[in-house]
Amino acid sequence: MIQKKIVNKKKSKGGITDHKTLQQIIRVDHAGEYGATRIYEGQIAVFGKNTKIGKTIQHMADQEQEHIEKFQELIVKERVRPTALLPLWSIAGYALGAGTALMGEKAAMACTVAVEKVIGEHYQEQITLLQQDQKELKSTIKKFAADELEHHDIGIAHDAESATGYKALTKVIEIGCKAAIAVSKKI
Ligand SMILES: [Fe+2]
Ligand SMILES: [Fe+2]
Repeated sequence: MIQKKIVNKKKSKGGITDHKTLQQIIRVDHAGEYGATRIYEGQIAVFGKNTKIGKTIQHMADQEQEHIEKFQELIVKERVRPTALLPLWSIAGYALGAGTALMGEKAAMACTVAVEKVIGEHYQEQITLLQQDQKELKSTIKKFAADELEHHDIGIAHDAESATGYKALTKVIEIGCKAAIAVSKKI
C-alpha cells in the first residue's frame, strides 16, 4: 500500500516541471532572444535594409522579434524576473552583430551559424526538461528551435564556412554565447 502511494506520487511529480527550472528557462530564453534581435540589428545597421544580405538578415530578425515577443509575454504571465544583464546583452549583441558585419558578409553569416548552433542545442535541452504541464511552452520552443535551425542553415548556405578564420571566430562566439546563457539563468 505504502509502496503504491510512492509510485503514484512519483508519477504525478513526473508530469510537473520543476518551478525553478521553468523560471530559468523563461529568463534565459528571454535574454537570448533579446540578444539575437540586437545581433541582427547590428548587422542590418552595417549592411543596410535594402541590400540582398540585409533582406536575408531581416527575415531572421523578423522571426527573432516574434520569439522575443513571446518570451516577453511569458515573463509577465509566469512572473519571471528578467535577467539583470539585459543592458549588457543589448550592447554585446549589437557589438557582435555590427562587428562581424564589418568583417564582411561571410563573417556575419559565421556569427549566425555559431549563435544559432548554441541556441538550437540549448532549446533541445530545454525540451527534455519541460514536462506534460508545460505542453504549450514545449511546442513553442520546438517551433523556435526549428526557426533557429533555419537561421543556422541560411548562414551555411551563405558561405559562412569560407569566412576568414571561421573556426576561431565561431569558437569564440560559441564560448561567449554559452557563458551568456550560464549567467542569464541565474542573474
Ligand atoms: Fe530566436
Ligand atoms: Fe535565430
